[in-house]
Amino acid sequence: MTAYLIRSVSIVGGEPTDLLIRDGVVAETGRGLAADDATVVDASGLVALPGLVDLHTHLREPGREDAETVESGSRAAALGGYTAVCAMANTSPVADTAGVVEQVWRLGREAGLVDVQPIGAVTVGLAGERLAELGAMADSAAGVRIFSDDGHCVSDPRLMRRALEYVKAFDGVIAQHAEEPRLTEGAQMHEGEVSTRLGLTGWPAVAEEAIIARDVLLAEHVGSRLHVCHVSTAGSVEVLRQAKARGVRVTAEVTPHHLLLTDERAASYDPVFKVNPPLRTAADIAALREALAEGVIDIIATDHAPHAVEDKECEWAYARPGMLGLETALSIALDVFGPRWDLIAERMSRTPARIAGLAGHGLDPAPGVPANLTLVDPAARRVIEPAELASRSRNTPYARMTLPGRIVATFLRGEPTVLDGKAVK
Ligand code: DOR
Ligand code: ZN
Repeated sequence: MTAYLIRSVSIVGGEPTDLLIRDGVVAETGRGLAADDATVVDASGLVALPGLVDLHTHLREPGREDAETVESGSRAAALGGYTAVCAMANTSPVADTAGVVEQVWRLGREAGLVDVQPIGAVTVGLAGERLAELGAMADSAAGVRIFSDDGHCVSDPRLMRRALEYVKAFDGVIAQHAEEPRLTEGAQMHEGEVSTRLGLTGWPAVAEEAIIARDVLLAEHVGSRLHVCHVSTAGSVEVLRQAKARGVRVTAEVTPHHLLLTDERAASYDPVFKVNPPLRTAADIAALREALAEGVIDIIATDHAPHAVEDKECEWAYARPGMLGLETALSIALDVFGPRWDLIAERMSRTPARIAGLAGHGLDPAPGVPANLTLVDPAARRVIEPAELASRSRNTPYARMTLPGRIVATFLRGEPTVLDGKAVK
């Protein structure tokens, strides 16, 4: 194993120091370190963060390897500063058995660019009718702890209750895609002024809020852990605020796009802006930003959703919902919150690692800690060119936008996955 001496780096915004990585761990920090055998990385002006952890990534393998593979998605993640991602279960076949989650887990290990932690489906085939084999997935080599039908809501309250009861035994989590399906039939975008003007069927905020309200009550009743995926409305924030005040075991995520982009983007009819839940209003964005800063929303998760050209570059109504996120998330966080490094480390690494139970991730670089970390150049600005992304898909909503921050290097257990801003393999 190569040793790396990172010179003059600010650890999570602190005073510049040296950081020595040896045998997969942070061996030492302090000024003026020396190590003859180490490769020196000049990191003056750079910030070291604990490697980012994404709780919500769509990798598309098995089934849609034309849109993304475990390997291409892992590379996109590493380039975005991530050292671990949780892979959503809506693949083909669905990750609803021990066999499929083990396959995804093994492909992640073979790619070796980030730790890929599979999420298991809650119901067989995401059909919302019968519980999947949650226990077998938990006991498998993949050690699944988070279950989600993401893309679909577990809308049957009895099934949702059963799922919460089942995972309680091993402190598992049900991650809910909160969307009351009867309220969103035919929906194309956020229901509001813009949808009225465009004549597109709306996806009302209450369809999300009603499910979150129900599920926090179910989680409270069962005493189990609920995680709410991609919270998108001001009303959802209020429901979560009350639930947390009562001590319900609920955590929540917001995506970068819901922190930045409004439903006005739909007026372009460019399907790159079609996503589920849909882009909301400026008032929702303000509430989401405040909630994330306060901790009512716990984390930023990307909902990285790669789609092949034919599924995205078509009429709005036929386009699949979803946007890329892994390679731009940190830049959006910097754009929205500025250099609040402790907040960024908390919301993009420490807390998601804790929710997912990922040992060795989400720990600030310090002696003895596994060297899972990323180096960010906060002064850099870059123009997003879709063709330059490592993802197999091109559906970034930030095409040709200039965004702050650049990932210079990422280390997974002491080995670089990204150096000089480029993937190592
Ligand atoms: O926009 C979305 N895309 N939302 C989801 O819930 C699923 C995802 C996908 O799989 O493409
Ligand atoms: Zn979802």
